[in-house]
Amino acid sequence: MHPSILGQFPVVRPRRLRQSAALRQLVRETTLSARQFVLPLFVRSGKKLRRPIAAMPGVAQLSLDEMLADVTAAVEAGVPAVLLFGIPDTKDTKASGAYAKNGIVQQAVRLLKREYPDLLVVTDVCLCEYMAHGHCGLVQQDARGARILNDPTLKLLARSAVSHAEAGADIIAPSDMMDGRVRAIREALDAAGFTETPIMSYAAKFASAFYGPFREAAESAPKFGDRRSYQMDAANANEALREVALDIQEGADIVMVKPALAYLDILWRVKSEFGLPTAAYNVSGEYSMIKAAAAQGWVDERALTLETLLALRRAGADIIITYHAVEAARWLRAG
Ligand code: PBG
Repeated sequence: MHPSILGQFPVVRPRRLRQSAALRQLVRETTLSARQFVLPLFVRSGKKLRRPIAAMPGVAQLSLDEMLADVTAAVEAGVPAVLLFGIPDTKDTKASGAYAKNGIVQQAVRLLKREYPDLLVVTDVCLCEYMAHGHCGLVQQDARGARILNDPTLKLLARSAVSHAEAGADIIAPSDMMDGRVRAIREALDAAGFTETPIMSYAAKFASAFYGPFREAAESAPKFGDRRSYQMDAANANEALREVALDIQEGADIVMVKPALAYLDILWRVKSEFGLPTAAYNVSGEYSMIKAAAAQGWVDERALTLETLLALRRAGADIIITYHAVEAARWLRAG
């Protein structure tokens, strides 16, 4: 509240606007709706396969038939979009599975677009799930140790993005954090004729312990070292704005902040500074914490989940990527 307003009206009573549910709805500043949700999915080959992820109750790696079942439930609940992660049968040091024409994500996209043409299919573009060493880029090992090869990685990321677009992906979401990848992907998509395919970049992605459960889900934990040479330091907010600015210059259409809950200040600053469609990734560890506490009976799961998602909206998120998507959509519908 502006101080001069407070000074002029010392007897204002905020409670006046809280007297009934209808009144509270009328003056509500932020809305939460399933229309903003994106549901992440982990797909792998096989039939009737549903491999639960221990640290993420309710989330599983799915074969494509099972994926369709989950997507049917999501669509019925009103979730408009999914984000695909692939777990390939084999991994190597070139991440071949990431850009294989018949890779698992490419198959999943084709199937989803055939069965659900109106569903928005977002694909995560990264190499870590496809690399034997679990890093997001090409790695050079020599006497000095291991280093990420930024520029050679860009070609592979661009190839992956084009192969996703060829399969029918609606939005390409690079999560690798290599420098220059948005431009490389934009140029490759344009050259292949996908000038209308938007890029949602994981623009401010922090090196975070909140990704722990995901690495089990995607089987992508690095075999050595960590991701701090490419993901951001949790201490840095101004740097996050520079990362976002760069991605926008390079052609990002939607920018993402990740993780979400411990980074609400970043979300707020990104939205207010750039005004672009902004996504928040409510990551695996954030999900698991609520699930674990709820399983103990320590918190009200429904209330805590909806409060969390609403907070992301209030902090500036237009889009929320969340493993709670289907449950939250149902809760919102039930009112
Ligand atoms: C891959 C990627 C990660 C997540 C999304 N894409 C993990 C990582 O960077 O280690 C994390 C998502 C989550 O925790 O839910 N680069």
